Amino acid sequence: MTPPTQWDPRVKLDPSSELQCTTCHDPHDDQFGDFLVVDNIHSFLCRQCHQIAFFDQTPHALSNRQWNGAPPDPWPHTDFPDVSANACLNCHLPHHAGGLQELLTSSVEEDVCFVCHDGNVASFNMRPLFQKPFTHPVQIFQGVHQAGESPLQASTHVECVDCHNPHRARLASASPPFVKGVLQGVSGIDAAGNPLDESSFEYEICFKCHADHPVAIMDLIHRQIPSGNARKDFSTASPSYHPVEAAGKNPDVPSLLSPLTPASLIYCSDCHNNDTAQPNQIGSNGPHGSNHEFLLAKQYRTGDNVSESPTSYALCYGCHNRSSILNDVTFTFHKKHVADERTPCSVCHDAHGIDLNVGNPMNNAHLINFDLDVVSPEPIGGRLEYQSSGPRAGQCFLSCHGEIHNPKQYP
Ligand code: HEC
Ligand code: HEC
Ligand code: HEC
Ligand code: HEC
Ligand code: HEC
Ligand code: HEC
Ligand code: HEC
Ligand code: HEC
Ligand code: HEC
Repeated sequence: MTPPTQWDPRVKLDPSSELQCTTCHDPHDDQFGDFLVVDNIHSFLCRQCHQIAFFDQTPHALSNRQWNGAPPDPWPHTDFPDVSANACLNCHLPHHAGGLQELLTSSVEEDVCFVCHDGNVASFNMRPLFQKPFTHPVQIFQGVHQAGESPLQASTHVECVDCHNPHRARLASASPPFVKGVLQGVSGIDAAGNPLDESSFEYEICFKCHADHPVAIMDLIHRQIPSGNARKDFSTASPSYHPVEAAGKNPDVPSLLSPLTPASLIYCSDCHNNDTAQPNQIGSNGPHGSNHEFLLAKQYRTGDNVSESPTSYALCYGCHNRSSILNDVTFTFHKKHVADERTPCSVCHDAHGIDLNVGNPMNNAHLINFDLDVVSPEPIGGRLEYQSSGPRAGQCFLSCHGEIHNPKQYP
C-alpha cells in the first residue's frame, strides 16, 4: 500500500485521514465518468494506493484482447474496451457488492476467470476441459477457498487461484523443477513439509493437497506399499522414484528417449496434463481435465489382461522407447510379461516412487511396488518380494495367475 503522500493530489483522504467516497469521487466534476477524481483507465486510480508487484508484466495488465460480444459480458460495470485498460477491474469491483470476498466480480471463484477464459476474451476456451471425466473439480467447491489460507489448515477444495496467482501469471518458460511463469507467486509446501508463501518448484504447489494432508482420490491402485503422500513417494530418500525433485537413483535407464537422460528432471505436469495439451496452443496446457484416468496426459491402462500396443501405455512410451522395453534390454522378461502375458506396467511399477518410510533399496528398486489385485504371495514361504541383485539382475518371490515364482531370476 503506497502512503498518501505519494498519491496523485486529486486522490485525498478526508480531514481526519479516513478513506471516503470523496477519496475517489468528486460529485461536482464528471470529466472522467462516474464522477471519479482521476481517470481510472489501466486502473490508474486503484494503483495510487495499491502496488501489486510484477502485475505490470502480466497479460492481465498488458493484453489488448477485447470481448467478442458473446455473453456473458466480462465488464458489465466499465466502458473500457480491452483487458489492459480494465486492469484491476477485470476481476475486482471498486465497492463491496453483495459482500464479495476480495471485492471479486463473482462469488463463484472460477467464474471470475471463466468469464474471459471461455474463448470470448482470452484466446482459448477452458470450460470444456473442466467438464471431462477426470479434472481438478473447481466447480464443486464454493466459498471454501480463503485468500492467504495456510496450506496446513485449509479444508479440502481446489480453485484456479490455488495453482495460479492472477496478479503474477504470465507466459515464461522454465525447466523442471522450477515453476513456469503461469505458476509464479503461488503458495506451497516444500520437500521437507514446510509451508511456503511462494513456490519455487512446481511440485511444491501440488504438495499443498497431495502430500501430508491429501485430498481423497477414488480408485487408487491397491499396492503392496500404499501411498497417497506424494512428498514421501518422490523424496530423494525414497528407494526409487521418478525424478521430480532431483535426478533419479538409477544411472542405467537405456530406454529413455532423447533428450532425456538419467540426469533429467520431469514435472508432475509432464504426466498429469490435459489430454488435448499442445505445446504451441496457448491455453491448452495444465492439469485441468482429461479423458484418461488419474488426469493423465496420455493413456495408461492399468488392471489386468491388457493387450500391449503403442497406445495402451502411451504415457510411458512418451519418454521410454517402446522397442527398448519390448527388446528386454534391462529386464529380460519385459516382453514376456507385458506383451505375451498381457501384464500392465502398473502391476509391477509404481509411477511415482516408494514411500520412504516403508520401502527399501533392495526390494523396491526400479519403482517396483506390486498391484495386490493381481499379484499375491507364493504359497510355500508366503513371500511377496522383489530382490534386486545388481544392475540388470534380480529375482521375484510371488504368485501371479497361478504361476509360482519361488524365486524366478533374471537375466
Ligand atoms: C477506492 C475508490 C472508490 C471509493 C472509495 C468509492 N468509489 Fe464509487 N466508484 C469507483 C470506481 C472506480 C467506479 C467506476 C467503476 C464501476 O462502476 O465499477 C465507481 C462507481 C460508482 C458509482 C457508479 C456506478 C455504480 O456502481 O453504480 C456510484 C454511484 C458510486 N461509485 C458511488 C460511491 C459511493 C456512494 C461511495 C462511498 C460510499 C463510493 N462510490 C466510494 C471508485 C470508488
Ligand atoms: C485511496 C486509496 C485506495 C484506492 C484508490 C483503492 N483502494 Fe483498494 N483498498 C484500500 C484500502 C485502505 C484497503 C483496505 C486494506 C486492508 O484492509 O488491509 C483496500 C482494500 C482493497 C482490496 C481487498 C479487499 C478485501 O476484501 O480484502 C481490494 C481487492 C481492493 N482494495 C481493490 C481496489 C481496486 C480494484 C481499486 C480501484 C478501483 C482500489 N482498490 C482503489 C485503499 C484504496
Ligand atoms: C485476473 C484477475 C485479477 C486481476 C486483474 C487483479 N486481481 Fe486482485 N485478486 C484476484 C483474486 C482472484 C484475488 C483473491 C486471491 C486468492 O483468493 O488467493 C485477488 C486478491 C487481491 C487483493 C487481496 C489479497 C492480496 O493479495 O493482498 C488485493 C488487495 C487485490 N487483489 C488488488 C488488486 C489490484 C489493485 C489489482 C490491479 C493492480 C488487481 N488486484 C488485479 C484477481 C485479480
Ligand atoms: C478480463 C479477462 C480475463 C479475466 C477475468 C481473467 N483472465 Fe487470465 N488472461 C486473460 C488474457 C487475455 C490472457 C492472455 C492470454 C490469452 O490471450 O489467451 C490471460 C492469461 C492468463 C494466464 C497466463 C497464460 C497466458 O496464456 O498468458 C493465466 C495463468 C491466467 N490468465 C489465469 C487467470 C485466472 C486464474 C483468472 C481468474 C482469477 C483469470 N485469468 C481471469 C484474460 C482474463
Ligand atoms: C488446492 C488443492 C490442490 C492442489 C494445489 C492440487 N490438487 Fe490435484 N486434486 C485436488 C482435488 C480436490 C482433486 C479431486 C479429488 C477427487 O476426485 O475427489 C485432485 C485430483 C488430482 C488428481 C487425480 C484426478 C483423478 O481424477 O483421479 C491428480 C492426478 C492431481 N490432482 C494432480 C495434481 C497435480 C499434478 C498438482 C500440482 C500441479 C495438483 N494436483 C495440485 C486438489 C489439489
Ligand atoms: C516425462 C517423462 C517420463 C514419463 C512419462 C515416464 N518416465 Fe519413467 N523415467 C523418466 C526418467 C527421466 C527416468 C530416469 C530416472 C533415473 O535415472 O533413475 C525414468 C526412469 C524410470 C524407471 C527406472 C527407475 C529406477 O530407479 O530404476 C522406471 C521403472 C520407469 N521410469 C517406468 C516408467 C513407467 C512405467 C512409466 C509410465 C507410467 C514412465 N516411466 C513414464 C521419465 C519418464
Ligand atoms: C511419470 C509420470 C508421473 C509423474 C511424474 C507424476 N505422476 Fe501422479 N500418477 C501417475 C500415474 C500413472 C498414476 C496412476 C496410478 C498409479 O500408478 O498409482 C498417478 C496417480 C496420481 C494421483 C492419484 C492417485 C495417487 O496415487 O495418489 C495423484 C493425486 C497424483 N498422481 C499426483 C501427482 C503429483 C502431485 C505429482 C508430482 C509431485 C505426480 N503425480 C507426478 C503418473 C505420474
Ligand atoms: C491443480 C492446479 C491447477 C488448477 C486448479 C488450475 N490450473 Fe491452470 N495450470 C496449471 C499448471 C501446472 C499449468 C502449466 C502447465 C504447463 O505449461 O506446464 C497451468 C496452465 C494454465 C494456463 C496456461 C496454459 C498454457 O497453455 O500455457 C492457463 C490460462 C490456466 N492454467 C488457467 C487456469 C484457470 C482459468 C483455472 C481455473 C478454471 C486453472 N487454470 C486451474 C495448474 C492448475
Ligand atoms: C513383471 C514385472 C514388470 C512389468 C509388467 C514391467 N516391468 Fe519394467 N522393469 C521390471 C524390472 C524387474 C525392472 C528392473 C530391471 C533391472 O534390473 O535393471 C524393470 C525396469 C524398467 C525400466 C528401467 C530400465 C530400462 O529398461 O530403461 C523401465 C523404464 C521400465 N521397466 C518400464 C516399463 C514399462 C513402460 C512397462 C509397461 C509397458 C513395464 N516396465 C512393465 C519389471 C516389470
